Amino acid sequence: MPPDLLEHALAAKGFMPPEEGALLHRVARERLPHGPALEVGTYCGKSAVYLGAAAREVGGTVFTVDHHRGSEENQAGWEHHDPTVVDRELGVMDTLPTFRRTIARAGLEDEVVAVVGRSTTVAAHWRAPLSLLFIDGGHGEQPARDDFESWAHWVMPDGLFAIHDVFEDPADGGRPPYEQIYLPALASGAFAEVDAVGSMRVLRRTSGTAGDALGG
Ligand SMILES: C[S@@+](CC[C@H](N)C(=O)[O-])C[C@H]1O[C@@H](n2cnc3c(N)ncnc32)[C@H](O)[C@@H]1O
Repeated sequence: MPPDLLEHALAAKGFMPPEEGALLHRVARERLPHGPALEVGTYCGKSAVYLGAAAREVGGTVFTVDHHRGSEENQAGWEHHDPTVVDRELGVMDTLPTFRRTIARAGLEDEVVAVVGRSTTVAAHWRAPLSLLFIDGGHGEQPARDDFESWAHWVMPDGLFAIHDVFEDPADGGRPPYEQIYLPALASGAFAEVDAVGSMRVLRRTSGTAGDALGG
């Protein structure tokens, strides 16, 4: 990771430990020459800087999808609420302005493309095979399941699928990314695990074609 961009990633508001960000950056460097990367769960752009840094180095484009209204755990009164990312007039969360500042300061506006909307709505119209898919969106059971069902089949053969906050042991954290994304991906028979750091898991697509329904 180029030191100037690492500085921006470390300074950005968000939920991506440096060693997991480094893994994301590494897999993005491998995959971006072969097609686009797509992230579900932009928040304020921290993980997008790790992905965008790879795009600046090897070429390619990173799409990042978020409605920017926050997940359940980001809402007022919850553990991960940040009152500095609330739209005061509307009284709702809005992480889009902070994301835009993060990406502009990092000089990655040509590499990182924001897609503002609900994950399932965007996915319903998505048709491009993905070289890298990174899911870090809603961590409830239904949102996690929806993200898996909406996006995983768009990973191209040999493409990579990274999943954040995968906790096998409930003592370590919430289970939906593990139960609703990671396990179904492996059970589909279309993916095999190739890397892991902290709560980040990276799977490779080993069978099927982008856009075809997954088995399992
Ligand atoms: C855990 S945060 C992402 C953290 C980010 N990747 C980082 O590095 O800091 C999850 C994000 O997913 C978004 N999100 C949750 N459910 C969503 C949905 N159904 N559609 C679009 N975005 C969603 C939230 O708005 C929130 O910004």
